[in-house]
Amino acid sequence: MEVEFRSVSYSVGARAILRGLTFHLSAGDTLVLLGASGSGKTTALKMVNAMLLPSAGEVVVGGRRTTEWDPIALRRQIGYVIQEGGLFPHLTVAANVGIVPRLEDWPPERVRERVESLLNDVQLPPAEYAGRIPRELSGGQRQRVGVARALAADPGLLLFDEPFGALDPITRLDLRRQFLALRERYRKTAVFVTHDIGEALRLGTHVGLLHEGRLEAMVPASEFRRVDNVRVQEFLACLET
Ligand SMILES: Nc1ncnc2c1ncn2[C@@H]1O[C@H](COP(=O)(O)OP(=O)(O)OP(=O)(O)O)[C@@H](O)[C@H]1O
Ligand SMILES: [Mg+2]
Repeated sequence: MEVEFRSVSYSVGARAILRGLTFHLSAGDTLVLLGASGSGKTTALKMVNAMLLPSAGEVVVGGRRTTEWDPIALRRQIGYVIQEGGLFPHLTVAANVGIVPRLEDWPPERVRERVESLLNDVQLPPAEYAGRIPRELSGGQRQRVGVARALAADPGLLLFDEPFGALDPITRLDLRRQFLALRERYRKTAVFVTHDIGEALRLGTHVGLLHEGRLEAMVPASEFRRVDNVRVQEFLACLET
């Protein structure tokens, strides 16, 4: 599903949080929004699934403005992964992963097959993990359940808000590899938020750098190192430390 921002601004009272964002994301691409804490990454992501609407400009998802979409219908088309997975704590892993297919009235047998296949995809063998509840999992395992849940109803678009931020470096590397493998397999359009420049360059086909609500750069990942912009250079300097 394509995503387009046309001069999108967002303000709370007199405070400008996003300022004139313009970009186009083609189907199958992964845009990484990179930026320091408070730069507006989560706010920009919430504009995509209509959790927030622009104060000015427009966000177009799948050819339709977010103001024209029924927000519930839009969110059914979008898998959303947040830190720690955002799972329902009282539901089993299988129930968490199958939640959107069940809401869409898939027959139980088809839901079960889909859940098992996705748990295998994220390396959580269903025989061992399907019946557990989230607090019986590690943080990295919960994160993988969150990814499986986001993929479950075959959405046209995936949003990731710093999903690997709280994990140790080994687990993070493992989950990044799985992310790339899943991307190869499913070819989903994705927007991925991070403050980690290394992660941005590894995972993005495109990288957008946000600074104080403005896009300082929006380029194919392979060109990011050559961007002549002071904020880009600041982030690149972090790679060497
Ligand atoms: N509802 C709100 N009312 C007022 N200010 C807000 C609101 N939501 C976000 N902000 C402010 O907007 C700015 C951007 O917030 P946002 O959550 O998008 O940042 P972020 O880039 O995701 O940061 P982090 O990396 O810490 O998650 C911050 O300064 C934040 O305090
Ligand atoms: Mg955030």
